[in-house]
Amino acid sequence: MKYIQAEYSGQLNGSVYIPGAKNSSLALLVAACLADDIVTLGGIPCIDDVSIIAGISRDIGMELKQEGGQVIIDPRKIHSAVIDPGKASSYRASYYFAGALLAKFGRVTIGFPGGDDFVSRPIDQHIKVFQALGAQVQIFDDYYVVEAAELKGAEIYFDTVTSGATINAMLAAVRAKGRTQLHNAAVDPEVVDTAVFLNQLGARIYGAGTEHIRIEGVSYLNGGTHVAIPDRLIAGAFLMAAGLNGGQVTVKDVIPEHLSACLAKMGEVGIHVECGESHITAYGTGSLKATRIRTGMYPGFATDLQQPMTALLLQAKGKSIVTDRVFPKRFAHVAQLRRLGAEIELRKESAFIRGGVPLQGSWVHATDVRAGTCLLLAGLAAEGSTIITGVEHIERGYEDVIGSFKSIGAKLSMREMDAQELPGLIHLRG
Ligand code: EPU
Repeated sequence: MKYIQAEYSGQLNGSVYIPGAKNSSLALLVAACLADDIVTLGGIPCIDDVSIIAGISRDIGMELKQEGGQVIIDPRKIHSAVIDPGKASSYRASYYFAGALLAKFGRVTIGFPGGDDFVSRPIDQHIKVFQALGAQVQIFDDYYVVEAAELKGAEIYFDTVTSGATINAMLAAVRAKGRTQLHNAAVDPEVVDTAVFLNQLGARIYGAGTEHIRIEGVSYLNGGTHVAIPDRLIAGAFLMAAGLNGGQVTVKDVIPEHLSACLAKMGEVGIHVECGESHITAYGTGSLKATRIRTGMYPGFATDLQQPMTALLLQAKGKSIVTDRVFPKRFAHVAQLRRLGAEIELRKESAFIRGGVPLQGSWVHATDVRAGTCLLLAGLAAEGSTIITGVEHIERGYEDVIGSFKSIGAKLSMREMDAQELPGLIHLRG
């Protein structure tokens, strides 16, 4: 079993290039199914979720080659719209295959989405979209089938703001007959990135980035080239690292506007931030102020950044409160932080923190990718060694997590647990 060993690292200083966004890439790779010619995507990170998509693509006949940092996709020979339930359930965003293959072939058989297990994550809004466009959805034990003789444009009002269902609606409607209008749509950068890509192929999507999106169906999509936007969530976590012990970290190749809520909060806790056109530098002052965080859909403070922010707030003297309204149960990291000595308590959808209490290394387990980032940051600030298991969750979202954190001076190593180490680790677990 792999694990990460983190040592107290003091100040973290340096620069990091930020890769393409995981959550955009997972949509773009599947959106490529819709094209009628070859597509080239840049900025796609080498992460486990992308390898799963590559496996599914092979199964259905979509050729996907990696060449010099680009992924070249040939969707012309797709011969199946049946996705292995095991593969679909091994990551979250497999639902995009449902939208894209339904649009192209009128029928798809696919397993339920899996991925981060921090909370049950409904897909009712995805189903609502398929039905509104005229498809029938049949649910079986471990898969569902969506089919339509013809997809027809529709007026769709989302009951809640969801980035996944907004993207899926664009995928499903882009080749539907007539006009589709989405209301109460998500405005996340990943939604806009997917729309920009599809429009580049000849789709007619208007208004992405606002709450109302209009899609005029087209019958053919060309090939084309696109580069995924930078990963705002990875960038945010690295900037927070500067705050741990008064360091200075620059993230390069980013779009600063995508991090506005995060940067504002960092300012409030006492981290000085400077933005250039495509880089951001965070200057820790060595002293952090407690604060209150409430997550919200974009442009609010991202749920994916509340966990790393929690690691930072453990260092801020006084009481902080972190509330997650998007995923109210996304708090599996709290019990793990307590194992490091953190004074943090969970009540309803909020974590209550008494910051400034010294942390002590121990064995902790990451249950999802962002919980992993949080434990990693906490481990770098804790005295002694922290062992982090659940590395597979971290690797779902981070390309070379060790290398990039090491480049800012973090003392981290990836290790393989052997039989001799096990008793020591069990002792640490307490
Ligand atoms: N929701 C519904 N019904 C649905 C879909 C969503 O009620 O059919 C609710 C969710 O329960 C949640 C809210 O709507 O309360 C927003 O969920 P959304 O659909 O936007 O989330 P998602 O598409 O499942 C994506 C990211 C998550 C990120 C969220 C929120 C991907 C693959 N995942 O999930 O990223 O936290 O948006 O921004 O794009 C991560 O990267 O670690 C991660 C979990």
